Amino acid sequence: MKYLIINGSPRRKNTYGAVKQLISDFDAEFEEIHLIEEQIPFCIGCFNCFVEGESTCPHFSKVNPIVEKIRQCDGIIIASPVYALNVTSLLKNFLDHTAYFYHRPQFFTKKALVVVTTAGAGHKKVASYIDETLRHWGVNKVYKISIALGGEESVDTSRYVKTAEKFFRDVESEKLHSPSFGDVTYFAAWKAMNYVEEPIKADNEFWTSTGLINQDYGQEANLNIVKKLYSKIIFRIFKRMF
Ligand SMILES: Cc1cc2nc3c(=O)[nH]c(=O)nc-3n(C[C@H](O)[C@H](O)[C@H](O)COP(=O)(O)O)c2cc1C
Repeated sequence: MKYLIINGSPRRKNTYGAVKQLISDFDAEFEEIHLIEEQIPFCIGCFNCFVEGESTCPHFSKVNPIVEKIRQCDGIIIASPVYALNVTSLLKNFLDHTAYFYHRPQFFTKKALVVVTTAGAGHKKVASYIDETLRHWGVNKVYKISIALGGEESVDTSRYVKTAEKFFRDVESEKLHSPSFGDVTYFAAWKAMNYVEEPIKADNEFWTSTGLINQDYGQEANLNIVKKLYSKIIFRIFKRMF
């Protein structure tokens, strides 16, 4: 199994240290991306990724190699310290550059582990924010570990080993979880956006070329009859609304 670690901390201390502790017992292939070293300029808000396609992003050459690594891994580990009650600007900048995934969900077979550290506050909210973002990307299951140091000099992850174990076992199982009703709702909403008078060009190309436009969810096999029916109904409602 291949894992990609995306370190949103500018340094290799508490957050990276926590990740290293959590993965230390697992024998797998780990690749590390330290966003500080990637030197990705700030997203300039040109909308090119949304409208013309991500390859027209002025920072495509910086962002795409990371996206390709996400495509190729089985499990994603995203780590960030809390900065001013949010993720670091390094991680936020990466998430801004990949915001087109909200419109074009695609990582339906991936699972993720989110690791957040903080001095005392914001860790749960920040982990939930990253979780929510990944769900919009289509990620099948997200595990969260949020650690408050509370004045300790170094991180102790012993309380969180079970969550990490669950994540690794889940990735190894290759079994997919059924999406939540919320996931199905967002999928149906973005699918319905293809039927507005002038659909967004790159989104429409994506939904058509992948065949997702004809599906009730990314991995249809994971939908039970109730969710399948729900997807069809909510899609029709959105289509009419838009
Ligand atoms: C610029 C900055 C902002 C921070 N903001 C918060 C905060 O809002 N709440 C908090 O409890 N800790 C905050 N911290 C503390 C870090 O979240 C904490 O020390 C974290 O474990 C650092 O991780 P690192 O060693 O990976 O950089 C902040 C630290 C820095 C440098």
